[in-house]
Amino acid sequence: MEPVLVLDQLDKSFGGLTVTYNVSFSVMPGEISAIIGPNGAGKTTLFNQITGNLLPDKGRILFKNEQITGLRPQEIVARGMGRSFQITSIFPEESVLENVRISCLSRRKEVLNPFRNVARFKEATDQAYFILESLGLAKHAERPAFELAHGDQKLLDIGIALGLEPQLLLLDEPTAGMSPDERQLTRDLIKRLWEEFNLTLIFIEHDMDIVFGIAQIVRVLQLGRLLAEGPPEEIRNNPEVITAYLGEEVR
Ligand SMILES: Nc1ncnc2c1ncn2[C@@H]1O[C@H](COP(=O)(O)OP(=O)(O)OP(=O)(O)O)[C@@H](O)[C@H]1O
Ligand SMILES: [Mg+2]
Repeated sequence: MEPVLVLDQLDKSFGGLTVTYNVSFSVMPGEISAIIGPNGAGKTTLFNQITGNLLPDKGRILFKNEQITGLRPQEIVARGMGRSFQITSIFPEESVLENVRISCLSRRKEVLNPFRNVARFKEATDQAYFILESLGLAKHAERPAFELAHGDQKLLDIGIALGLEPQLLLLDEPTAGMSPDERQLTRDLIKRLWEEFNLTLIFIEHDMDIVFGIAQIVRVLQLGRLLAEGPPEEIRNNPEVITAYLGEEVR
């Protein structure tokens, strides 16, 4: 089996500050994996390079065997990569349904033209409802997005990404700012979405219950370098990882 995503020696600096250094790894299709590491380790910057929001200074990114380094984010999305943001990207004044429907329609390149093709519009609406049901947000479909609780806004952001029918989905701190109860639910939800939508899924997360609960592979970034990569049990017992990030208490 070929990897779906390959990072090959990615370097990125801001001024004199090296934020990713020589980062290489491969992600297999259908894998669910986590990226962990201290604040400022370069996790989000790495996602930004993968999704075309930032250009690496050096190195290559291959998605489904094609070079995507230097492509614009929209082009990368069109090839089947989706993401949610650490800070959500919803349209606050639009309804919850509309937020997801817009992305379902844009996947079909028919943005905001419901009258040209009623059948397609209906299809996108059904798809949006299906996604909202999966996220437990269907009951809020008609409400403006800004009225949602923070945790639900995070889920809506994932819904927007799913509307684009990605094969590879990147989630940046899906449970940030959530209560412990919400986190538990979101952990189960992420696992379910991964299965239901046949995703290859990479998530950045600080909550180790979630990381060690659902990731098949864990990658640890420290000061922009890939410190370790492997199955959860191995990472959890890796002395370097414990020193750099985990501490003793999670063992
Ligand atoms: N556009 C930018 N210009 C300058 N420095 C930046 C920029 N973006 C990120 N940085 C710096 O790069 C480093 C890595 O940031 P990044 O956001 O990737 O960390 P992170 O691992 O996602 O951290 P967190 O867990 O807090 O989200 C930080 O020191 C940050 O201040
Ligand atoms: Mg970050």
